[in-house]
Amino acid sequence: MNFGRVRFAFPLSLLLLIPTVPAMAQQTAHLSIDASKAGARIDRNLFGQFAENLGHGLYEGIWVGPTSPIPNTRGIRNDVVSALRELKVPNVRWPGGCFADQYHWRKGIGPAAQRPATLNSAWGGVVDSNAFGTDEFMDFIQQIGSQAYVSVNVGSGTPQEAADWLEYMTAAAPTALAKERAANGHAEPYNVALMGIGNESWSCGGDMTADYYLSQLKIYSRFVNNDNPSQKGPNQMLKIAVGPGFPETDWTEAMMKVWQKHDWSWDFNGLSLHWYTVPTGWPPSLPSTGFGVEDYAKTMKSTLFMDEFLRKQEAVMDKYDPQKKVALVVDEWGAWLAPLPGTNKDFLVQQNSLRDAILASLNLNIFARHADRVRMANIAQMVNVLQAMILTDQEKMVLTPTYYVFKMYVPFQDATFIPVTFDAGTYTQGSVALPRVDAVAAKDANGKLWIEITNLDPDKPLTIEAGITGATARSAKGETLTAPAVDSINTFAAPGAVVPKPISATVKDGRLSITVAPKSVTVLSLEP
Ligand code: AHR
Repeated sequence: MNFGRVRFAFPLSLLLLIPTVPAMAQQTAHLSIDASKAGARIDRNLFGQFAENLGHGLYEGIWVGPTSPIPNTRGIRNDVVSALRELKVPNVRWPGGCFADQYHWRKGIGPAAQRPATLNSAWGGVVDSNAFGTDEFMDFIQQIGSQAYVSVNVGSGTPQEAADWLEYMTAAAPTALAKERAANGHAEPYNVALMGIGNESWSCGGDMTADYYLSQLKIYSRFVNNDNPSQKGPNQMLKIAVGPGFPETDWTEAMMKVWQKHDWSWDFNGLSLHWYTVPTGWPPSLPSTGFGVEDYAKTMKSTLFMDEFLRKQEAVMDKYDPQKKVALVVDEWGAWLAPLPGTNKDFLVQQNSLRDAILASLNLNIFARHADRVRMANIAQMVNVLQAMILTDQEKMVLTPTYYVFKMYVPFQDATFIPVTFDAGTYTQGSVALPRVDAVAAKDANGKLWIEITNLDPDKPLTIEAGITGATARSAKGETLTAPAVDSINTFAAPGAVVPKPISATVKDGRLSITVAPKSVTVLSLEP
């Protein structure tokens, strides 16, 4: 958890238009997009997710068990899987979070009836049946078409325990652990794309100093390895070290200074960073429903601090790693709001509104602008916890506004960043001043140009006039996400309140014109 200060930065801006918005009170933003100027690749891993063993994130949200009346495949709910497949989730971080440093993987393998019941002392002290363990996680990953990002236990585990876990998952040779995996139903080794070495080791992961953590990290990095023959060489598993969860740079400085001198025996490929949007500081107090534009503005101001946070950490990383070999991995981000009344406060249950959708787009745009260093991110969390994609209640499921933003951004996965210049203007709410607009552009593998426009202003539509060079287009079409109020939500009874609608723009002589609705997220593709 990050208990640090919350500040903000003003980023840039952009374009576009919705035909149905009233002409009065419209503002205009002028954008300039040069498609011939390619930036960094927007790594698909920036759209990763986080599924911790916390509250109803796994149990009920993903896992209902094979005997459940809720339709499932080997215990994993079909509705959630089919919704997640649409997002092309590149990787899923599991089993935590703070839970990871208390997890002992052996308790979650083998016949379900023989698995011990344990306490989830990280989250509410509830009894954990261990029914959702390693093989179930891997089944889930395979069902949604994603990759595993496994966090190993540094806080209360040992390097040997973690090494055994990796061998269980990845060994192809007939070792005792590989045979045990085969006996549990999976003869082929699993692919483990990413391994996190501990979690928030400066806090819930053991309250370690940077020096102490580094001494552990070197050992885990040296001895905990992926044995899957198909993951040797370019497809190798990437190792992610614990990084900061606070704006200060001392932890990053310590990590990168030592990394610069690392020898053959240890390494890390990514440095994690955690930063939540907690608009009024800890403990989170802003409600996730029934709020107005004042809370909306505070939240946007708070979330835009991500840009400044990244810049500070990147400056330190650049000092020790100018070639940007080590990725900055924002593997926990999102809105952390007050628990919904009537829920277990340790289950981190919150609703998800249009505000969350706009917050998500701003963060994804920030990541895209930092894509040369920020090559991975995981929103917290996937189902039923914090800023979730999906909410469930027994057999019911609803997709959140944040889900739809992730769906609209799928074309940006692995696309090439294209710079957009613009004057964002200012939207003022009380003492809070925000950029009125944000925008990013990217070119996909087929050469198609994509533009995203966020209108932060909750009241006024925005006309976009965008000059486009370096690409030919006759029209532009896409989807826009908005709703009547900043706190509009999707519910089980009304799941279609905040869903994307088709939108088109005119393109003439290299100029794109469109008007976007107040408080909206719009993604357009340019059509030849
Ligand atoms: O996402 C909830 C918690 O927030 C994670 O377990 C922890 O890493 C962070 O503090």
